[in-house]
Amino acid sequence: MRSNKITDVKAREIIDCRGWPTVQVDVYVDGERAGRADVPAGRSTGQHEAFVLTDGDPKRYRGLGVLKAVANVEHAIRETVLGFDVTEQRKIDLAMIALDGTPNKKKLGANSILGVSLAVARAGAARCGLPLYRYLNPFGHVLPVPLMNCLNGGKLTANELEIQEFIIMPVGADNYSHALQMTTEINEQLRELVIAKYGILATNTGDEGGFATPMRGIWEPFEFMQKACEKAGYKVGFGEDIVYGLDCAATHWHDKKAKLYGLDGKTYDRESLIDLYKQVAAKYPLASIEDPLDEEDFDGFVKVTAALPQTQIVGDDLFVTNVERLRLGVRGGAANAMLFKVNQIGSLSQAFEAAEFAYRHGYGVQVSERSGETEDPLISDLVVALNGGQIKTGMPIRGERTAKHNRLLQIEGELGGGAVYAGNNFRRPS
Ligand code: PGA
Ligand code: ZN
Repeated sequence: MRSNKITDVKAREIIDCRGWPTVQVDVYVDGERAGRADVPAGRSTGQHEAFVLTDGDPKRYRGLGVLKAVANVEHAIRETVLGFDVTEQRKIDLAMIALDGTPNKKKLGANSILGVSLAVARAGAARCGLPLYRYLNPFGHVLPVPLMNCLNGGKLTANELEIQEFIIMPVGADNYSHALQMTTEINEQLRELVIAKYGILATNTGDEGGFATPMRGIWEPFEFMQKACEKAGYKVGFGEDIVYGLDCAATHWHDKKAKLYGLDGKTYDRESLIDLYKQVAAKYPLASIEDPLDEEDFDGFVKVTAALPQTQIVGDDLFVTNVERLRLGVRGGAANAMLFKVNQIGSLSQAFEAAEFAYRHGYGVQVSERSGETEDPLISDLVVALNGGQIKTGMPIRGERTAKHNRLLQIEGELGGGAVYAGNNFRRPS
């Protein structure tokens, strides 16, 4: 009889889309390589994310090498997980968490633990002869609305836009393939509009594939998105083809001491910033805002959630895919959705636990890329397994982003008539 026991674990240092080193892990079962996964990395990170172990040796990759993390996988973690049945995902994750013994995976590094956790899931699926999304959930059937961040700023570019992501959401599409077609057509119109005003250099893209134009403030990007949608022949509005989203990543333009936000040469306190969002929401169909305020401001998140009843408020740096942070949010009604990034918490089991907690409290779950990705499309399987209904995985321009969109097209084909496109129900898909 075939055994499902883990017989070896190997790791290597590979390169992500920024040319930064990251960890790739292979899990062997019964002597054969059964699963492989790559670890993503953030740049605009939350303070409460799990610890990423880098070498700190300035002679290699300016200190960003991950050979220590690779060694942790190949020695301490390997010895711990050898002999486990590879389908015992949670037991394996818990064994690694116990081996590390720290709350934020400081000893072994979240990049070591997560690499093994994800490769174990892939290997389990392979041994069962199932695609990953189906192995994780045989009832996974919802194809997500892609949140396409077509104009980028903040830490993901070198322009002066403080707000990190201006997003179009093709909620009126018939299915995922149609959603991809619509947004790509709109992006081509946007490219021409950007060239007409700012020249060809302004169509260089940021880390997640959105144009890194020299626009400023909050209004101009919306004017461009609006024009691009119209020129592409799509209607903008709730119940129409397109609605909008933002990832403000506001922590990164918040002065913690002065408690003020600096946006386009002006300063805002919490109340006046919420007021600005209200003005935007009065003019445009603003369906989702991620991190509108600083990552520590739970009270402010309660206020902004109440102030914008039509808008989904997503916690990224606020919750860091951590059930304990989410518990704090749920108690007072801070935000109403959680961004789901596996490497913020550092194991698949903990990330799923956070998503389940979110669902049980009426919160949405938006699966997300990191700005540092490889061509590994794992999150596409995760969003379908979670029936999340929404994914943020960049404009389909750069290879590490197209990999995710193309994987979703494959899944859509495999699910066939069983697939449901989340569309307008992206917050609560069924
Ligand atoms: P990050 O950016 O991956 O650099 O954190 C993405 C985001 O803030 O959503
Ligand atoms: Zn974010």
